[in-house]
This record gives sequence, C-alpha cells and structure tokens, in this order.
Amino acid sequence: MQADFLVIGSGIAGLTFALKTAKHFPDKKVMVITKTQSDETNTKYAQGGIAGVWDADKDSFDKHISDTLIAGDGLCDNNIVEIVVKEGPERIRELINYGADFDKDEKGDYALGKEGGHSEFRILHHKDVTGKEMERALLNEVEKTHNIEIISHCFVIDIITQHHLGYLVTKSTQNITCLGVYVLNLNTNQIEKILSNTTLLATGGCGQAYRTTTNPKIATGDGVAMVYRAKGRIENMEFIQFHPTALYEPGVSPSFLITEAVRGDGGILRNKDGEAFMEKYDERKDLAPRDIVARAIDNEMKKGGSDCVYLDCRHFDKEKFIHHFPNIYEKCLSIGIDVMQHLIPVAPAAHYSCGGIQTNEFAQTSIQNLYACGECASTGLHGANRLASNSLLEAMVFAHRAYLHLTTPNPSKGGELKAPSPFGEGVGDEAVWKAIPDWNTLGTTDPREMILITQSLKELQSIMSDYVGIVRTDVRLERAMKRLDLLFEETEELYRSTKVSPQLCELRNLITVGYLIVKGAEFRKESRGLHFNTDHPNKSILLQDVVL
Ligand code: FAD
Ligand code: SIN
Repeated sequence: MQADFLVIGSGIAGLTFALKTAKHFPDKKVMVITKTQSDETNTKYAQGGIAGVWDADKDSFDKHISDTLIAGDGLCDNNIVEIVVKEGPERIRELINYGADFDKDEKGDYALGKEGGHSEFRILHHKDVTGKEMERALLNEVEKTHNIEIISHCFVIDIITQHHLGYLVTKSTQNITCLGVYVLNLNTNQIEKILSNTTLLATGGCGQAYRTTTNPKIATGDGVAMVYRAKGRIENMEFIQFHPTALYEPGVSPSFLITEAVRGDGGILRNKDGEAFMEKYDERKDLAPRDIVARAIDNEMKKGGSDCVYLDCRHFDKEKFIHHFPNIYEKCLSIGIDVMQHLIPVAPAAHYSCGGIQTNEFAQTSIQNLYACGECASTGLHGANRLASNSLLEAMVFAHRAYLHLTTPNPSKGGELKAPSPFGEGVGDEAVWKAIPDWNTLGTTDPREMILITQSLKELQSIMSDYVGIVRTDVRLERAMKRLDLLFEETEELYRSTKVSPQLCELRNLITVGYLIVKGAEFRKESRGLHFNTDHPNKSILLQDVVL
C-alpha cells in the first residue's frame, strides 16, 4: 500500500492533521491507521476540556503563558509556550467550525471552567465528556472528506528506515529517513508494508506502563518505542504525570477520572480523618498544579495508611453539579456513591506523558519525513509538568504546524520541504520502495502460551508502579532497571521466536517505554516538577532536557 500522507493515530492530533492536509490536497490520499476502533483513543476520555484565552476582559495570553511556565517548573521552552498559547484560540475556533459543541452560559457566552494551576477561568468544555464531543466532531468531518481513508484494527509494528534496506543506522546517523511502516493488519491477519513520503505519528500516551492509570488499553507508548528503535531522539520521559483524583475502585482498569474541574468548581480533598489537607501543602490548596496535589495525596495516604483520600462535593448545588458533571454523577451513583451525601474515594493514577518523541516547532522529529504530535511528542510546552487542559490544545497546534510545514515553502524556521534521498542523488521513491523487503516470519511459530505475555505485562506494571511512581529513590530506580533488563531479554526472545501479535508488540513497547522512563529518572539528579527523588530533593541549577 502507498499513501501520499500517512497518519498513525485517530485521536485529536492525527485527525486534525489528516483533515487539514486532505482539504489542502484534494487530489492526494491521506491514510489514517488506528489499532482498534477509530474512536478508541485517549482523546475520547478527556473530561475537563481545552484551555485557551477566550475572555479577553479578564484573561490574557501573558497569564496563560505564565501559568504554563509555573506548572512546567523551569523546563518549558518559552518560545513553544508562546506559540501554543497564542495560536491555540484559532485552532479551537476551527474545531467549533467542525461542529464541536462547547457549553455556554445563560448569556450565550462560553462557560469557562478552571483547573489546577490556572489563574483564570479559561477551559472550554462539553459537560464532563469534552473529549468524546471533540472526537465525534472530528470523525464526522473526516467522514465528509473524500480523500481520507481510515484503516482501523491495523497495528503499526515499526517505522521503516534505510536500516531495513541493509544500511547501518546508529544514533549518530545524520539522515535517518522514514519510508513508511510495517503493520499487522488485523482485518487480513497479514503483515503489510505501507509506504509514504510523509508519515505523522500521533500514537498518544503510555499510561498502560503503570498498574493504575486513567488511560485506555491502547495507551502503550508504541510511537515512542518505534522511534527509539529507529534510533530517533526521545526526551524527558521521566516526567510522567499522575492525575490526583482517579476514582478509587480496586480491580477496575482503567481508572475512571474525576476531572479536576470538580475542584475548579469547589470540590475539597479530605484525608481519611476528614481533614481538608491541601492548605498544609500549598497556598493554592486544591487548585495547586497536579504534581503538588498528587504528592500531597500520596503523602496523606502513606501517613494515614489508607489506600485513598476523598473528594468532598456535598456542599454543591445538586442541579449545578449534574448539569456540569452528569457522567461523574451517574458513574458514582452506579457504584453506590451519591455525591450529594457521600465522599468520593480518589487516588492518584498515571495519566499523561510530558516527554516523548523530540520535535521542533513544526512537529518535525529527528528522523526525516517523520512528524510527531499529540501526547507522543515532546514539544517543549509542558517542561517538567503539564498544566491541566493544555494537552488537547498542544495536539491541535502542532498538527496544524506539521501541516503548515508541508504546505508552506520555507516556513520561517522549519527545514527543507522534502528531505534529500538518503540513498544518493537521483534515487527515486519507486526504486527505494521496491527494495524494501517484506516482513520476514521465517522461523517463528504461533504463540502457545499467552500467559507469558499477560504475566510479563503485570510484572512490568508492578515494577513501574512500585519503584518509578510519584516518589522515587536511587535504590528503587536501580532495582527497577534490573527487573526491566530481565523482562526485556525474555520478551525479545519471545518476539524473535513467535508470530507477532498486538499484545506482544505492546508489551515490547511498554518495556522500552519503562526503560526510557527509568533511564531519564536516573539521569536527572534533582527533584523537579513531576520527578521527585528523595535522594536528590532539590532542584539542580543545571537546567536541561534528558535526551535518549
Ligand atoms: P490519542 O487520542 O490517545 O490517540 C492515539 C491513537 O493512536 C489511537 O487512535 C490509537 O489507536 C493509535 N495508535 C497508537 N499506537 C498505535 C499503533 N501501534 N498502531 C496503530 N495505531 C496506533 N487533556 C486535556 O487537554 N484536557 C482534558 O480534559 C483531558 N482529560 C483527560 C482525561 C483522561 C481520562 C485522559 C486519559 C486524558 C486526558 N487528557 C486531557 C489528555 C488528552 O486526552 C490526551 O493527551 C490527548 O487526547 C492525546 O491525543 P493524541 O491524539 O495524541 O492521542
Ligand atoms: C481533567 O479533566 O482533570 C483532566 C484534564 C487534563 O488532563 O488536562
């Protein structure tokens, strides 16, 4: 198969890019690959909303920039923050034009929400199911766009580079070039090649590396692992964001989120003794940035020997609560919690990956012809901790910028429009593509024991949760690395000897992601933002990204 533009992922990042590119090039084919159903994405589960400066009377770009920089704890790229904040509202307007419906107040103005770390009300939302509404609007627009083809149930295994043609590719190879991807097409059960001159990775997060996560099953860090295997650059993976308030429901995975917007509307965190504890930790109390709130909860749980803390909403007006949070109200009721009478048990859960595939201001990766945006990318916006509701915004801004880079000759700071062929002058696409070998299944057999995969996944999630969670130490990180080494060896052996399956590939990818998180955490001899190591409790004066 060949595509003019190949997009991996059908969340907000992939679909935004696909729509823009398809509309600009009506005669070209845009192919979107997604590993399960097209709407099964992190995007669909977003609750709180999308941040953007909307109310010019009270809010300003400067305030949103400042809030983002404060949350990022010194590690944000100022230029990127400015780009996202200033271009964001225009991207949100485009989404509204696609038909996304954001809540309005009685006067007909957008009803703006507030979340941790925001100094103003600036979050557009659709009840407490904003992501579902955005995904619906985007997929609806895609359906109307004749030159976008979505191939669902198609698992991307690896990106193809000159390595697959027998060239030596190392971390220091200058012109690593993406030529397409190998996929396991679950519709045909065949491994196929999809070739393209332009590939965009929008593969989302990696929350499944942890035992407790708000992320759906698809969030297995596939894009990050693929780029790492292809010798591209990955950065800042140690900054895994734990959402402070996932519903505490033992044995249920993924965890149901209780959006931070509930605290934005006045929800109060209490420990097991009923004490409102956040004022002990930060003057912004329940609306401090997420790293601070998650650590405070972790501390209260450890001190009190409890498995959760509680969110108190009993003082809310019932009608108002149900109006803004109907999904949360129903979910709690379904497990016997009437939020007007009972406290909601909550605990932190792995939620978001701030680091990822290193990209520049036009979403270019270190691999030629390969762009990345959305949660899998590390743009420099989030630094050491993401400000709430900045993720959906970032995904749209960089999907647009990747499209700009493709369509504008010499965009201000971008590179060349088309990378030179790594195979020398005059070597055309057709000749290169013909030389790419088919996937080799020689010597592999059908997997006989699925338990080898499922048990290893559980082990990985335990290692990451027990040793590389909210609070880290040098010894825990060292122990995690040793355990990961063993899992890596066993899984590579399995990969070499059995036929590939999505489960095996996801396990392999999650082990790589685990390794990158631990490695990043080991390099960072300080505590900053989401990375807190009790052996190095202070901030280092040397500000730097950890690039692997
Ligand atoms: P996703 O939406 O996750 O899409 C990833 C896509 O890649 C999927 O289609 C998947 O099938 C595909 N894919 C992955 N690997 C492969 C592969 N190997 N082969 C083929 N396809 C593949 N952010 C906010 O800004 N505001 C919020 O209110 C908010 N709330 C959230 C609530 C929850 C419960 C969660 C989990 C996240 C929330 N976030 C929020 C974060 C935000 O939703 C995500 O960061 C964002 O949606 C990521 O979008 P994306 O397009 O990068 O990836
Ligand atoms: C939430 O609604 O609390 C999640 C928002 C986010 O992750 O940005």
